[in-house]
Amino acid sequence: MGSRFALLCLLGVLGASPAIADSGIYYQLALMWPGAYCEQTSAGCCKPTTGVSPASDFYVSGFTVYNATTNAPVTGCNNAAPFDPNEITDIQGLYQYWSSIKCPSNNGKKNWKNAWKQSGACSGLEEKDYFEAALYFRSRINPLVRLKAQHIEPDFGLYGVKAIKNVFKAGIAAEPVVQCSKGPFDKFQLYQLYFCAAESGKFIDCPAPKQYTCSKEILFHPFQKWMLKQQLNETAAADPLVLPGVAVEI
Ligand SMILES: *[C@@H]1O[C@H](CO)[C@@H](O)[C@H](O)[C@H]1NC(C)=O
Ligand SMILES: *[C@@H]1O[C@H](CO)[C@@H](O)[C@H](O)[C@H]1NC(C)=O
Repeated sequence: MGSRFALLCLLGVLGASPAIADSGIYYQLALMWPGAYCEQTSAGCCKPTTGVSPASDFYVSGFTVYNATTNAPVTGCNNAAPFDPNEITDIQGLYQYWSSIKCPSNNGKKNWKNAWKQSGACSGLEEKDYFEAALYFRSRINPLVRLKAQHIEPDFGLYGVKAIKNVFKAGIAAEPVVQCSKGPFDKFQLYQLYFCAAESGKFIDCPAPKQYTCSKEILFHPFQKWMLKQQLNETAAADPLVLPGVAVEI
């Protein structure tokens, strides 16, 4: 299948056509909630060195092509196409919505390179198209806006997993897989949402959803820009950008 065709399918441009050749794949987009990441990671989270402030929203944390027959990720394309960071520098929203807030502070290139090596090169898309497709997929879901519209907000509140899924069932006619992590007060918290789309770009329930442990109600942790430290490396660690009131001794 040609790359351009694959992209048009994914973007839903050809979505209405029943005549699309099915090459037996589907896509999975993983979206990470940074508030949970910052809370659960012992190193905390760090401000990227890109100079662009990451969004206060879910970030793309994975965009994977799956074999629809085996439900296994399509891999092993590592040598197919080398990663060229220059191809993607001007992609709108890349720095904001596919941010690497891992410490120490970094420019995200390693993150994007890994995504390309693991999945992108196997996606049938050109490098730039792969990243743009993932971001477009994310923008169609627009998870935080949808959740907030149903009063599910990152406010330390507890929300039903079912209620979270139902927001998307109503909005995009497909349920996400919800992944939790251990949050504060010994509660499970919303960490990642996984969405699937058929090759046509139509959202579908993930065919072989991985089971993650969550409680019935999970905590939605706040995310504030001040949670991002400016930790360049071990020597620079003494001078992080942390505002007063962040580190609370218990
Ligand atoms: C999916 O897996 C099957 C069985 O291993 C294989 O025959 C097929 O070519 C794979 N399809 C794709 C698109 O990789
Ligand atoms: C760590 O940061 C300091 C100050 O920014 C810099 O001079 C040094 O080269 C950095 N070291 C490494 C290993 O990146």
